[in-house]
Amino acid sequence: MDIDAAKTQSLIDKHRGLKKNLIAILLDIQEAYNYLPAEALRQVARAVGLPLIDVVGVATFYRAFSLKPRGKHTCLVCLGTACHVRGGQKILEEFEKQLGVPAGETTPDDRFTLETVACLGCCAIGPVVVVDGEYFGHTTLRKVGPIISRFSRAGSRSKPAPRARRAPARKTAKPRGRAARKT
Ligand code: FES
Repeated sequence: MDIDAAKTQSLIDKHRGLKKNLIAILLDIQEAYNYLPAEALRQVARAVGLPLIDVVGVATFYRAFSLKPRGKHTCLVCLGTACHVRGGQKILEEFEKQLGVPAGETTPDDRFTLETVACLGCCAIGPVVVVDGEYFGHTTLRKVGPIISRFSRAGSRSKPAPRARRAPARKTAKPRGRAARKT
């Protein structure tokens, strides 16, 4: 993906290029490119006056950030205990089979990024799958295909991933650690 240095700079400038605003800057860049390109991280490091390794450290610490390009749709399969005992692992395997990629990866057409999460806070309706912020409870193997089809047909990304545990509220970020599998 081509990085627009001027666009990145405008996002840095929006936060006055301040070190203390590093997370806010990275959140804006993540939103603009749907991931954090290495080139943009270098530009941020120079602008805020931090070593690149420190900026990368922040980017890898928080689950809100991704260093790899992400798909248009983010599909989260819950593997928390309640979902796991109700077949969450089998649901994940079905998504992996139908999308043709393992958890943590993005389909070659950049349409879906498949991820796992440890708990989405709605255990009673497990197994739970969330696509672009939309929750699907009591998921069965038969529902996997229709869920994928629905978002394959959908044009643009509907909503960001749920913020409760998957991603932080705007301008904040939570450390990684709740995901069942690191992505
Ligand atoms: S374990 Fe899946 S929502 Fe809690």
